[in-house]
Amino acid sequence: MNKFKRAVDFLRKAEKIAVLTGAGVSAESGVPTFRGRGGLWKKYRAEELATPEAFERDPILVWKFYDYRRQLISKVNPNKSHEILAKWETLFEKITIVTQNIDGLHQRAGSKNVIELHGNIWEARCIKENKVFRYKENPISEFPPKCPDCGSLIRPNVVWFGESLNQNILNFSFSLFEKSDLALVIGTSSVVYPAAHLPILTKKSGGKIMEINIEETSLTILSDIFLKGKASEILKVIDSLI
Ligand code: OAD
Repeated sequence: MNKFKRAVDFLRKAEKIAVLTGAGVSAESGVPTFRGRGGLWKKYRAEELATPEAFERDPILVWKFYDYRRQLISKVNPNKSHEILAKWETLFEKITIVTQNIDGLHQRAGSKNVIELHGNIWEARCIKENKVFRYKENPISEFPPKCPDCGSLIRPNVVWFGESLNQNILNFSFSLFEKSDLALVIGTSSVVYPAAHLPILTKKSGGKIMEINIEETSLTILSDIFLKGKASEILKVIDSLI
């Protein structure tokens, strides 16, 4: 059986599918990835822009970085990968996306079962009251932006380096991958934990890993099927065979 037919077989046989997505899925929409050629962390220093210390030191600089990314994301559209994954929600009974992306493109494509591991770039959090709210001002007019209720500083509601993930989201994701028969891992370098650990939980509990990426990653050795290529192209082929 060729790889694509096997992939379809895996999808059809799985009772529960957990999808883990990373920056590679949004790359074809025009959102830069973090590592590799043209990656954000090649151009900018993460520790100066995406850490709690950086925000304490210079909230204006950090907000300007997020304003730049918000403007960029507001101009792009979901691509074929987001669309196919949204369609699969109607085809397969239990499929949930756990994404490391903060761009909201899965939801814009119509996916409903989406867990955001690293937060959402369109949400902000008041640093005094910890209240999370939708913050859509684009471009941001005043730096640093302040809480509309109490006037305190607000921060992007995203996870920065050195910060812990939301415990409820993390527990849900651990349990989801543990209980799934198939972990479908798309467009992630699998180097950032705990996200990178999720498909390993599926494997440990007897499930399979199917990986889609333009290059091999540290997960590939554990993958039952590795489909090399652009996510949208691979997903289109699989989708045409379902
Ligand atoms: P990375 O930039 O580390 O990895 C992107 C992956 O996508 C690489 O493995 C590429 O080979 C692959 N890729 C690129 N284009 C692709 C395409 N068209 N089709 C398929 N694969 C493609 O991004 P993530 O793994 O998502 O965290 O990074 C994980 C986390 O590190 C991010 O959520 C972010 C970052 O620091 C935080 O900010 C907390």
